[in-house]
Amino acid sequence: MRRAKITVVGGGNVGSSCAVWLAEKELGDIVVIDIPEMEDKTKGKMLDLAQCAAIDRFDCSIIGTSSYDAAAGSDVVIITAGLPRKPGMSRDDLVQTNVKIVRSVSEKIAKAAPDAVLIVVSNPLDAMVYTAWKTTGFPTHRVVGQAGCLDIARYRAFIAMEAGCSVEDITALLMGGHGDDMVPLPRYTSIAGIPVTQFIRPDRLSAIIERTKVGGGEIVKLMGTSAYYAPAAGSVQMAEAIVKDKKRILPCAAFCDKEYGVGGYFVGVPCVLGSKGVEKVIEVELDANERKMLDSSVSHVKELVALAQKFM
Ligand code: LAC
Repeated sequence: MRRAKITVVGGGNVGSSCAVWLAEKELGDIVVIDIPEMEDKTKGKMLDLAQCAAIDRFDCSIIGTSSYDAAAGSDVVIITAGLPRKPGMSRDDLVQTNVKIVRSVSEKIAKAAPDAVLIVVSNPLDAMVYTAWKTTGFPTHRVVGQAGCLDIARYRAFIAMEAGCSVEDITALLMGGHGDDMVPLPRYTSIAGIPVTQFIRPDRLSAIIERTKVGGGEIVKLMGTSAYYAPAAGSVQMAEAIVKDKKRILPCAAFCDKEYGVGGYFVGVPCVLGSKGVEKVIEVELDANERKMLDSSVSHVKELVALAQKFM
């Protein structure tokens, strides 16, 4: 049986954390690509990781490089390249710099790994997925953004802390863009099938929702840079669903045209993820208030894409 191959573009905090979890889960051979100036550091990090194999018992090849040829034949490419946030910055402040970086790496990936499914992690996420799609010309089902897995992981972690239960038993839904106007949906949140409202008072649940929306900013304030463990874990969760053709239903930034009346943008929606990438966007029923929040988040995504297009 052929092993899957996963390329990670960007060997910084998010990219190398992705490599760690991809290896631990033995999802396939791993290539991490960074710019030539970072080649030695990336090679060193990946050699270091490869030496964990004897302890953690994974069999796969792990390579750090600056050559895009190494991405040939990848099933999945995770794009983490770009600057992270500094304190006081919103994700949107990164658009001008990161759009150029994402465009440049996407061009190279389109040549080196034309059949891959692309998972974009760079910020501002919703505009960077759009940039990667426009640049590669890949079909929409093979371009997807990681944000919902991270945002929902934060939401579930906070709910578990409040309810004093296992995070494993919490299922939740969150939609919209990866900005502070994302839309967590308490009506679609349950603990072991029991509505979350039977565990957590409305005022506490509202506080959790607000904390989730600014969850990335909370970490930037503490660390002086963007989060990386949970963003990487979210990306690997998506890569696993794709390389194992699991058909998992995960919240992802997927291309929505008629879906939710979005009209041709990538926004966070529940999707079926399998070997083809986004195999289906699931349209859930929303009440008037939820719909209003989603529309407002989608309007923000559209503004951000318009801004990104000026620099593309
Ligand atoms: C966050 C960044 C990675 O939400 O977008 O932490």
